[in-house]
Amino acid sequence: MEPDGITALITGGASGLGLATAKRMLDCGGNVALLDLPSSDGEEIVAGMGGRAKFVAADVTSEQQVLRALDEAAELGPLRALIHCAGRGSPVRTVDRDGNPAPLEVFAEIINLNLVGSFNVLRLAAARMAKNEPLEGDRGVCILTASAAAFEGQIGQIPYAASKAGVHGMTIVAARDLAGRLIRVCTIAPGTFETPLLAARPQELRDSLAAATPHPRRLGKPDEFARLALQIVENPMLNGETIRLDGAIRMGPR
Ligand SMILES: NC(=O)c1ccc[n+]([C@@H]2O[C@H](COP(=O)([O-])OP(=O)(O)OC[C@H]3O[C@@H](n4cnc5c(N)ncnc54)[C@H](O)[C@@H]3O)[C@@H](O)[C@H]2O)c1
Repeated sequence: MEPDGITALITGGASGLGLATAKRMLDCGGNVALLDLPSSDGEEIVAGMGGRAKFVAADVTSEQQVLRALDEAAELGPLRALIHCAGRGSPVRTVDRDGNPAPLEVFAEIINLNLVGSFNVLRLAAARMAKNEPLEGDRGVCILTASAAAFEGQIGQIPYAASKAGVHGMTIVAARDLAGRLIRVCTIAPGTFETPLLAARPQELRDSLAAATPHPRRLGKPDEFARLALQIVENPMLNGETIRLDGAIRMGPR
C-alpha cells in the first residue's frame, strides 16, 4: 500500500523509533496519529508537524484508552497502518547476587506492557481495519516491534526477552488469523538503535554494543527502522514474518 494519503497509528510515537517512523510517514504523504503516554512530549512534538499529525494520549495496556485513541485517530481518515513501538525493559536477574528470586511483579509488569500491550493494540486496530474497503489488496497493515533479545536475551533481560519472544510468536498467528480480512502483520526485531531508550544506558555499554555489530559497526539510526516500517507498509508480500534489523549482531550473554 502506498503511504501517500493513508492514516497510520504509531504507538510510542513521541520518541525514538516511533517518532522516526512518524516523520518518515509524514514525508511520504501519510497522516499520523502519535499514540504515547500523556506524560510524553507528544503534544509539543505534533505542534511542529503540521495538520496531518495528531497526538493521541493513551496507555497501550488499556482497552478503553486505546479505543478512545483510535476514535481520535479516525478523524485523520480510516486507519490503514499500525506501527506499534511502545515498550521498554526492566533489568532483573532470575536469582540476584544475594540469592533472592526476581520479583514476580517486575516480570509481570514488562510482560503486560510489551506483550499484552502489543496484543491489545493489535486486536483493537485490526478490528477497525477490518471495516475498511481494500486498498491495493489490503485493508490494513500491522507492524509490531520485538527485539534481538527475543532470540538472544542477555543476562538481566528475562522479562524483556520473554515479552519480545511472545511478540515474535504471535506474528505468524496474527497474520494467519487476519489473512481472511486482508490485513497483514509483520514484526521488526531491532538490534541496537540510537534512541533515548539506549541513551539512558552507560556510554561504555553503548560503545560495546556498537563494536559488537559486525557491519555496519555502529548503532542503528532510528530512520533505518522507519525505512523498513514503510517498506512493510508498501510491499504486499511481506506478511507473517519477524525481520531482524541488526547489522548481523548476535547478542552475547552480557
Ligand atoms: N532502541 C533499541 O536499541 C531497541 C532495540 C530493540 C528493540 N527496541 C524496541 O523498540 C521499541 C521502541 O523503542 P525506542 O528505543 O524507540 O524507545 P523510546 O524509549 O525512545 O520510546 C518508547 C516510547 O514508548 C512510550 N511508552 C512506554 N510505555 C508506554 C505505554 N504504556 N503506553 C504508550 N506509550 C508508552 C514512551 O513514552 C516512549 O515515548 C520498544 O518496544 C523497544 O523495546 C528498541
